[in-house]
Amino acid sequence: MKIIDLRSDTVTQPTPAMREAMAKAPVGDDVYGEDPSINALEELAASKVGKESGLFVPSGTMGNLIAMLSHCGRGDEIILGKRAHTFLYEGGGISTLGSVHSAQILEQPDGSLALDDIEAAIRPDDVHAPRTRLVALENTHNRCGGTFQPPAYVAAVSEFAHTRRLKVHVDGARIFNAAVAQGVDVKELTGPADSVTFCLSKGLCAPVGSVLCGSREFIAEGRRWRKHLGGGMRQAGILAAAGIVSINEMVDRLAEDHARARRLAVSLGHFPQLVLDPGSPATNMLFINLAENAGVDAQQVADALRARDVLVGVTGKRRFRLVLHYWISDADVESVVVAFGEALA
Ligand SMILES: Cc1ncc(COP(=O)(O)O)c(C=O)c1O
Repeated sequence: MKIIDLRSDTVTQPTPAMREAMAKAPVGDDVYGEDPSINALEELAASKVGKESGLFVPSGTMGNLIAMLSHCGRGDEIILGKRAHTFLYEGGGISTLGSVHSAQILEQPDGSLALDDIEAAIRPDDVHAPRTRLVALENTHNRCGGTFQPPAYVAAVSEFAHTRRLKVHVDGARIFNAAVAQGVDVKELTGPADSVTFCLSKGLCAPVGSVLCGSREFIAEGRRWRKHLGGGMRQAGILAAAGIVSINEMVDRLAEDHARARRLAVSLGHFPQLVLDPGSPATNMLFINLAENAGVDAQQVADALRARDVLVGVTGKRRFRLVLHYWISDADVESVVVAFGEALA
């Protein structure tokens, strides 16, 4: 019996094309800059998002951390969202490893940071205050429901930040979901910012890795930080080969995940015990609440679903997250609806 795993798109397995590419990948010592597959991936990634250079890193967390350590120095401050992945789920790496402070702003429902709030968070030039150096966005925004921000917003924040001599980093773990959902070239979402991290190992199905992209000078600095952090890998072209397949073959099809997420939302919306977030799903994630009178909590429902070979994320006492991805078919969506019906009965 197939397990239908909706906990995250990080559970995706590499595709057959990836496994084949991995087996055949030419490799070398990447710390010497001699891995042809990594060099090809970094070039491809940078050109895809409209930047000069790319840096292959083991994870999104390391990509964001390297970006922040490269943009900021000891005692600097980053303006970011209260529900940002970089703030909530990356171990506070900027402070433990970089002595960098953060100013957290509550996001708007779509995951954006309001310009007025950013402006209010910028510190005065005063010895009492840390120095504001960077604004960090997240697109799509995970905790805000897989919501996306449009090109005009990224451009407006970047222009606003640049006139105040601040840099802009985009945690674009799922930036291709944001681009595909809006029908725009991803460069429109990354071009105005100074740097972006995107993940190969989520909806794009590669087994490992993310790419940090930015200017040549910025990536040269990032390469130093990657080595400091122990992220200098050797014949990792085996992994990069899968990442190349991700970028070339897996981006456009994300629209299928979004469509399945919408279909699942419509079907689950028929259960009176379930309340969907307004506007959900924006991309491949579905956040669902249990109605107050449901008589069960989310963990009990998740356990009942697990007994029916369906795995969902529990993100609160009455809240679930369901994430659609390459390995979830139309038939699986039907099975999930049946399983919910039984679990809620
Ligand atoms: C928005 C966002 N940023 C960054 C990350 C970190 O990626 P990784 O798990 O590869 O460190 C995640 C992981 O789920 C994420 O959702």
